[in-house]
Amino acid sequence: MANVAVIGSQWGDEGKGKIVDWLSNRSDVVVRFQGGHNAGHTLVIDGVTYKLALLPSGIVRGGKLSVIGNGVVIDPWALSKEIKYITDLGITVTSENLKIAENATLILPLHQKLDSLREGSNKNIKIGTTKRGIGPAYEDKIGRRSIRLADLANKDTLSDKIERLVNHHNIILRGMGHNELNPKEVFNELLSIADEILPYKARVSSILSDARKAGKRILFEGAQGVMLDIDHGTYPFVTSSNTISPTALSGVGQNIKALNFVLGITKAYTTRVGEGPFPTEQENEIGEELGKKGHEFGTNTGRKRRCGWIDAVMVRHAIEVGGIDGIALTKLDVLDGFETIKICIGYELDGEIINYLPIASEDQFRIKPIYEDVKGWSDSTYGARSWNELPAEAIKYVKRLEELVGCSVSLLSTSPEREDTILVKDPFED
Ligand code: IMP
Repeated sequence: MANVAVIGSQWGDEGKGKIVDWLSNRSDVVVRFQGGHNAGHTLVIDGVTYKLALLPSGIVRGGKLSVIGNGVVIDPWALSKEIKYITDLGITVTSENLKIAENATLILPLHQKLDSLREGSNKNIKIGTTKRGIGPAYEDKIGRRSIRLADLANKDTLSDKIERLVNHHNIILRGMGHNELNPKEVFNELLSIADEILPYKARVSSILSDARKAGKRILFEGAQGVMLDIDHGTYPFVTSSNTISPTALSGVGQNIKALNFVLGITKAYTTRVGEGPFPTEQENEIGEELGKKGHEFGTNTGRKRRCGWIDAVMVRHAIEVGGIDGIALTKLDVLDGFETIKICIGYELDGEIINYLPIASEDQFRIKPIYEDVKGWSDSTYGARSWNELPAEAIKYVKRLEELVGCSVSLLSTSPEREDTILVKDPFED
């Protein structure tokens, strides 16, 4: 049985929700492995829209096991809110269908506060974070002072761990001229939510090993995209986790043999939320049109997304470092009606032509995209379910992209509806 990981190949928001839902319908276990409630996945099923942030997409489908791995940072209050939201929409969430790794790091209110304070106080660099406390929580994880889910079950030792954590942050808060945290208050806050989330605590690594032995299909659901990867993205304008496919394994306690196919979700154009370099950004009527037709507003934050042409250099980089085996191309219909479509095929830096993204962010801001023009199409591709329904120019665009990024399209998505998908190669049948 093949296990599949889905990752974004751009700056997130590539339309993973629909593809993950499409695949989760055909899998037994759906696993989140990195990120937190900074992610926003929209699923449309039978006309009902579900907006998920932290819960794996499989939760909306009966009979699937949903798993949150150790690589995810979990805000217990956000989780509780999301469970209530989804329950109100008629979805059942129990300790039978949702398992959370006992070694997962928790996001506390102090992390959210620090995220906002830093974004507000940093004059030189603003990352444009989601202000959900993601970065500060990962910092504490690496700094070996995090509170993890399992810690909530050991109340005797919890207060010592909190004191250590709070002492560290109080030095910083004092330095910034802000009120210090009271460890007792943090302890009480955590106790007030502990009983709500402890029932989901599980030995996720063993559960997934058993699932594999039983021949179950596992879907690893990535969040954000390769260009937001802490190492391989547009640092420092990135999120604080690794978003590439190996994290699907380290983020859930599985070994390298557990993954058979990596599907890279790629939007037919590019968007980005937050700050940072974006060589193909169109701050003009083209960008406005892409944003309007593509409904480019954040699922959870509501922020307007920046829009531009597709960047084949970046997608090729994402394919290489992300280990992507096949592409799921989304939102092709947003390009319907453009007379000419541009694909970035290289950059110019100080008069030199380069075919890679330079590492230094100051260079990433300076590079000028080099475009190849592709003839557009006037017919609609919306809702197409076979290649025959696509205009010849749309097929040419897809084929040219495949050549430029060095990877084939496995799936083509032509509307938010699950059925409006052209399947070229089934990722589960690798
Ligand atoms: P953080 O993950 O909240 O720390 O934000 C860091 C950067 O990643 C910001 O530019 C965010 O806009 C971006 N980001 C985080 N999560 C997502 C996502 O799910 N989609 C798109 N961008 C994201």
